Amino acid sequence: MKFLVHTYGCQMNVRDSEAVESLMVAAGYEKAASEDDADIVIINSCTVRQKAEEKAVGKAGNMIAARKITGLMGCAVKRMGADVFKRLPKLDFAVGPRSFGLIPRIVSEGRFPRLELGDGLVPDSLSAHVDGGWQSFVTILLGCDNRCSYCIVPDVRGHEYSRPAREVLAEISALAKRGVREVCLLGQSVLRYGARNSVWDADEASPGGYTEPFPRLLEAISAVPGIERIRFTSAHPKGCTRELVRAYGEFPKVCRHLHLPVQSGSDRILSGMGRHYTRGEYLSAVRALRELDPEFSVTTDVIVGYPGETEEDFEQTRTLMDEAGFDNSFIFKYSPRPGTRSAALPDDVPAEEKERRDQVLLADQERRGLQRNSRLVGTVREVLVEGPSKRNPARLSGRDGGNRIVVWDAKDSPRPFASGAPARIRITQAHAQTLVGEAVD
Ligand code: 5AD
Ligand code: SF4
Repeated sequence: MKFLVHTYGCQMNVRDSEAVESLMVAAGYEKAASEDDADIVIINSCTVRQKAEEKAVGKAGNMIAARKITGLMGCAVKRMGADVFKRLPKLDFAVGPRSFGLIPRIVSEGRFPRLELGDGLVPDSLSAHVDGGWQSFVTILLGCDNRCSYCIVPDVRGHEYSRPAREVLAEISALAKRGVREVCLLGQSVLRYGARNSVWDADEASPGGYTEPFPRLLEAISAVPGIERIRFTSAHPKGCTRELVRAYGEFPKVCRHLHLPVQSGSDRILSGMGRHYTRGEYLSAVRALRELDPEFSVTTDVIVGYPGETEEDFEQTRTLMDEAGFDNSFIFKYSPRPGTRSAALPDDVPAEEKERRDQVLLADQERRGLQRNSRLVGTVREVLVEGPSKRNPARLSGRDGGNRIVVWDAKDSPRPFASGAPARIRITQAHAQTLVGEAVD
């Protein structure tokens, strides 16, 4: 029997889908080449915004209509609970975000319909990886206890739990032996690593004298042979401490990029959201990173149209974004999620006004991205090659440490080009979202 996994949502979901693929293959199922070819389709769902959820549910409906054995996993399942079978009466199985390790058994037993929402993780399901690539996601922290007013994630992904450091390090060492050179550490709020439960054994000391669990983890991963780049996402601004900045400075393998969702530039809105920082505190965190390295790449998420967001609040967001000089940003129109604190507030910014604010911030980012990237013209970027450029296959594409997309003429580079190979690219041209250059040497 052949299976396929379709993924919606964030990198956590991408990672969980990879683990499911690995577990399914280990259980004797074959990965299908295409949807037509698949007997079993598993859809990994997101529920962060209403639209995201509808996409996954719609896709599941299509797969059911196409007579596939259809399963839904992930965040939307946990939100809907047993109601998922009201929306999709012919769905075969549904599993919550922590139960994906059960999928191979559920499929082989074939007792449908089946619903699994348990909070207990299936042992070893977190460390299952598919062989082959040079980049890998590694989950270090599950769930979230931040409780921002608008966010449904704590309800669906459960309480925060940090995996023990030795478990994470063993997983990364094993990946490195299989050829992985770049790891991206994942969690809803990775800088809270080790905040709720202890992750280091008492006899483990930090050679560099780090006391905070997350910088210590960066130090330890830096020492894993074969790992060349360390990334992580996503981060809450409260966790951007002096030790973290020091770690960025001391460990060259740690990429100088931080995705630091700000959500709003208005102190009034930030307080209503329960973000526990001010505009000023956020900006000083960004300043510390740019003092370390003016090229430090800072990216963000912003919500427009939060309940009660006035034109003045919105202006505060605009000016904050300019002051922070974001290298990239993702703008989301507020959407109330059932059961969250803000869902009890009137969703009072009209849809057209949310749309307008979205467009304004997107245009600002176009201009700002171009400005930021223009400063890199003439510099040489250390890039790891990802493959032919999607837009123009005569070009190669890769990313620099700041997670910036860099493209250059393939004929400048030796062939055949190994994905994951390092390249040095001198930048000749800047766009808002990409850098164009030529291979050096
Ligand atoms: N409405 C709109 N955007 C949201 N996000 C989270 N919850 C909501 C919501 N209810 C955005 C935040 C977060 C990103 C992943 O999604 O900006 O950082
Ligand atoms: Fe979507 Fe959030 Fe779940 Fe990621 S954790 S898939 S963004 S709901």
